Amino acid sequence: MHIVVTGAAGKLGQCLTQTLNTAGHRVTALDRDTLDITDFAATRSTIGDLKPDVVIHSAAWTDVDGCARDPERAVLVNGFGAQHAALAAAEVGAAIVYISSNEVFDGELTLIPDSGIQPTYREYDTPRPINAYGYSKWVGEQSVMHSNRNCYIVRTAWLFTHGGTNFIHTMLNAAQAGKSLRVVIDEIANPTYSADLADAIAALVQTERYGIYHLVNADACSRWQFARYALDRAGYADTPIARITRREWPRPSTPPENTGLSNLAGRAVGITLRSWQDAVEAFLEQEGLLVKDEA
Ligand SMILES: NC(=O)c1ccc[n+]([C@@H]2O[C@H](COP(=O)([O-])OP(=O)(O)OC[C@H]3O[C@@H](n4cnc5c(N)ncnc54)[C@H](OP(=O)(O)O)[C@@H]3O)[C@@H](O)[C@H]2O)c1
Repeated sequence: MHIVVTGAAGKLGQCLTQTLNTAGHRVTALDRDTLDITDFAATRSTIGDLKPDVVIHSAAWTDVDGCARDPERAVLVNGFGAQHAALAAAEVGAAIVYISSNEVFDGELTLIPDSGIQPTYREYDTPRPINAYGYSKWVGEQSVMHSNRNCYIVRTAWLFTHGGTNFIHTMLNAAQAGKSLRVVIDEIANPTYSADLADAIAALVQTERYGIYHLVNADACSRWQFARYALDRAGYADTPIARITRREWPRPSTPPENTGLSNLAGRAVGITLRSWQDAVEAFLEQEGLLVKDEA
């Protein structure tokens, strides 16, 4: 397959490019310098010339606080940019994969009383974004679905990727530096290893089963649990992490509270992702940071 990846210099874009190349696809990686997705004419002519089989649209303005400060720009990049990619793909008969977010949901899921069951969003639950970034990603979803019937909407969450910085690196660096750590308990989602997501997307594009997918590592947790698990497995079990609430960590963009996602649609086509705990261990092992249990 010839696959175009937009936002290819980004964290997921780089990982996707590597995974798809290794799988034997012909990959054209487009970074922002090569293609600004807000320019429809440029998007149309670039994708028109390349004539790929699939466009994976990973480009986005991912600074959630920046989006809160400039919501119109967020919609321009994340909403209309996605529409441009979807229309350009449709014109050459290519399918499109739109990378979306858990933040399209309002996060107001509540625990089923006395059940202990953590509720999660399914693929066809109704989005209701509560911040500018989530709104812009939802606009992107709608635009893609209206512009190209051969579309896969792939919602994911809390990515951790090799290279650059991510939540795990931030926690480990702070622990190493002896800084005191405070992490929120009332923000819940699925930590997801970019390598697992890239493998899942590589499998998905072969299916031609267009629709909405929740491709996240299995099971959701709070930010605090995510931090605690990563530090424990990297040898920092003695480093305390204070539990705080979102109210104690005010920021321009309010994250939704509970956006745990379940992967029903992916499972139906044979695509499942391991638990987030196993994924964190695999990530740490790959970085040479995993502390093995004593036998
Ligand atoms: N990271 C997460 O936890 C997470 C969670 C859920 C969903 N997602 C989604 O996953 C996708 C990939 O995210 P990521 O973590 O890889 O983010 P990232 O590292 O910020 O990558 C996004 C890339 O898009 C590029 N971009 C921004 N504006 C552009 C434009 N107008 N034209 C072309 N390219 C542009 C960025 O370039 P510059 O760096 O030059 O701006 C960057 O290289 C995004 O769609 C994001 O919404 C991410």
